[in-house]
Amino acid sequence: MRLTRPPFGPAEFKDADLLDSTYYASADPHALWARLREHDPAYYCDPADGREAFWVLTRHEDVSMVLRDYESFTSRRGTMLCIIDLSMPDFASDEMMPDTDPPRHRMLREPVNRALTPRAVAAQEEPIRAIVRDLLRPALDGGVFDMAQAALLFPMAFTGTLMGLPRENWRRMSELTAMTIAYDDPDYSVGDSKATLRQAHHELFDFFLSEVRSRRRSDADGGDLLSILRAMDVDGAPLTEQQLVLNCYALLLGANVTTPHVTSTLVALMAEHPGQFRRVREDVGLRRLCVQETLRWSSPASHFMRYALRDVQLHGRTLREGEPVSVWLGSANRDERVFDRPYEFDVTRQPNKHVAFGVGPHYCIGAGLATLGLRIFLDELMNLVERVEPAGEVTHLASNLVAGYKNMPVRLTPRAGVTERTLSEAAG
Ligand code: HEM
Repeated sequence: MRLTRPPFGPAEFKDADLLDSTYYASADPHALWARLREHDPAYYCDPADGREAFWVLTRHEDVSMVLRDYESFTSRRGTMLCIIDLSMPDFASDEMMPDTDPPRHRMLREPVNRALTPRAVAAQEEPIRAIVRDLLRPALDGGVFDMAQAALLFPMAFTGTLMGLPRENWRRMSELTAMTIAYDDPDYSVGDSKATLRQAHHELFDFFLSEVRSRRRSDADGGDLLSILRAMDVDGAPLTEQQLVLNCYALLLGANVTTPHVTSTLVALMAEHPGQFRRVREDVGLRRLCVQETLRWSSPASHFMRYALRDVQLHGRTLREGEPVSVWLGSANRDERVFDRPYEFDVTRQPNKHVAFGVGPHYCIGAGLATLGLRIFLDELMNLVERVEPAGEVTHLASNLVAGYKNMPVRLTPRAGVTERTLSEAAG
């Protein structure tokens, strides 16, 4: 979706648009969200085409309240608006970490958390750096480089390595995860939306099942995340194969569908704000803030969902027990009630209370890893690249969940002394 700024034209939309993936490839949801924040902060969206109606919350305060209050808003019936009927039971309920509520949520999250300690995350630094250099190397010949396509594989650098997944499968896995969130995008769909989703799930679940079966419980010392999960007892029993497969899927999806878009947004921002990036190059202390501001700016996870467990009054409306409630992170991250000059990208922004990683019990479990990966990407961009110029039209992903680029042609000018050859030599 486009990351636009005011002045916005009139936000023309039909309720069905909010669900439809293709709307986000071409229209301007920022104009729509700004209008909803101002005039309809608790908006009841009724597609009137047989699909179930749902609430749309767009203010930072309401988004945060819903994500924190798991006693009033459950994750057990699914957390994403998608083509699946919202009134259907969720097959991953209570089995997959994102689709559970505390206290069961804690039981599934803790083993994964223990495998993602700051030490385990820090150990990924060198492999990630090598992969970032591999990713940027082909761009340094001065030709046109599609940053969005190149970035798609980037998160496999951390999930693939951490989970011990064979490298020859990484490309297919990143295609399959893209299919699960862009099932209506002509570049990803195979047949219709449901068939695309079915095929992606089928291949990913099969793949993880054979990976899970290839680990023995005695292999925990091998160190990869899958072996550690396989060896762990939760509440006195090992995780079932289904729980292992679903939680591996959640980790892979969480990383793959989000991180690439922050990465390519960083490159686009460098082209748009050369002055700010000169400061970031000179002042290493600004890099942490720059990554946080890029997360706010790009907000790759556009929305999440919950279902109301009781009647809740909000802005004079009643969210009734059982109704689906969507919260829009991309909108919350431009909320003028929280952010000064929300439509300005500012590498010095502090404080920066963005909700790109969510808040509350489901706060992104991969936030530390993603932040490390983005920080390394920014460092390498500063080390290797002098200037970025747009080199053609960008295209946007057709997805109601993920705000992302599909193509981003750019031309990178390497810094003095940096060539593709010096990089290859450095890599040995
Ligand atoms: C820039 C990159 C990322 C962004 C913007 C992002 C965003 C989010 C958000 C907003 C949530 C909250 C969902 C909710 O409240 O229902 C979340 C949860 C989650 N993320 Fe991420 N994520 C990123 C990277 C990652 C990575 C690298 C991983 C894997 C290592 C990951 C795995 C997960 C998982 C498993 C959850 C569910 C946590 C739970 O239910 O307790 N994410 N992410």
